[in-house]
Amino acid sequence: MEQRLEELRAAALERLGAAQTEEELRAVERDFIGKEGSVSELLASVPSLPPEERPVVGKGANLLKRDLVAELDKRRAALELAAIEAQREGTDFDATLPPAGVQRGSLHPLTLVRREVEAIFVSMGYEVLDGPEVELDYYNFQALNIPADHPAREMQDTFYCDSAGTLVMRTQTSPVQIRAMERLTPPFRVIAPGRVFRNEEQDATHEHTFHQVEGLVVGEGITVGHLTGVLKGFLRQLFKKELEVRLRPGYFPFVEPGFELDIRCPFCEDGCRVCKQTKWVEFCGCGMVHPSVLTAGGVDPEEWNGFAFGFGLDRLVMLRYGIDDLRHFMGGDLRFLEQF
Ligand code: FA5
Repeated sequence: MEQRLEELRAAALERLGAAQTEEELRAVERDFIGKEGSVSELLASVPSLPPEERPVVGKGANLLKRDLVAELDKRRAALELAAIEAQREGTDFDATLPPAGVQRGSLHPLTLVRREVEAIFVSMGYEVLDGPEVELDYYNFQALNIPADHPAREMQDTFYCDSAGTLVMRTQTSPVQIRAMERLTPPFRVIAPGRVFRNEEQDATHEHTFHQVEGLVVGEGITVGHLTGVLKGFLRQLFKKELEVRLRPGYFPFVEPGFELDIRCPFCEDGCRVCKQTKWVEFCGCGMVHPSVLTAGGVDPEEWNGFAFGFGLDRLVMLRYGIDDLRHFMGGDLRFLEQF
């Protein structure tokens, strides 16, 4: 039996040494250590051998198998190297050719503008916060002065994540206001950019998934003047020019008084396609934080007050780059994305 093992080893090594191609290597593999190969058959026969031969043959065959696997790997690597070298020697190999170009992606326009927005607010002393996209109904609605049966829920129909209705896809970044107040000690100023979701008919300016930037300042003696001052300062840095703003009354249950802030169209003097000939572009909802909201966040409204705002990042990106349809943002069309 030991002789048989030695014969198999010699035969296998001879064929391995002679093999010149991957197919030949695979044939050696199959004939010796494949399922029905000679070494495998020998191993399979061990139980039928006389007891005193079994350990010797079993061990010998296993060792042979291990050696053949190693030899196969070695021979395979040697053949690959030889193939590469042969190619290099060939006439059409040019080591000075530049490598095939690596395709680099680019940042999404929403990311570009979000980073710019964050940098401007950070330069004004704001902290950038994050909040969960799957939110408790409590933070998204109740703590923001919108109880379960409040008509304002109609304005922001959402996606519920559980049958009890306690978990929702957040419809706005405003729940981060409450989370910020719970975590931070006044005075503080924060922004919270993020993705939000609404059960909404889609068109060129409405998506079911879009992005907002929330702002919240809590301090002493804060006024509407501070609110407009901050937003004007921000817009000046973003559009690189002074832009007039105007406030219209706006209803959001979590602010009192509440406003819609419009900006003078950055692109025209007398009306254009962007401002729909009105010279004004809607920019954000804002107002003075409602005392009940401060209380819900654990902030004493007798001692502190503040303002909050929330604007749509997608609409801002549209304005910034003159994009006419916000559905491009989530469309994944490279012809759109490669322009940034
Ligand atoms: C809000 O969501 C309030 N949370 C904003 C706020 C914050 C008010 C703090 C007061 C204080 P509104 O539903 O208007 O408000 O949405 C804010 C902005 O999000 C809009 O001005 C718009 O730019 C953007 N927006 C709203 N719905 C969509 C949508 N379906 N697709 C894209 N952008 C949208």
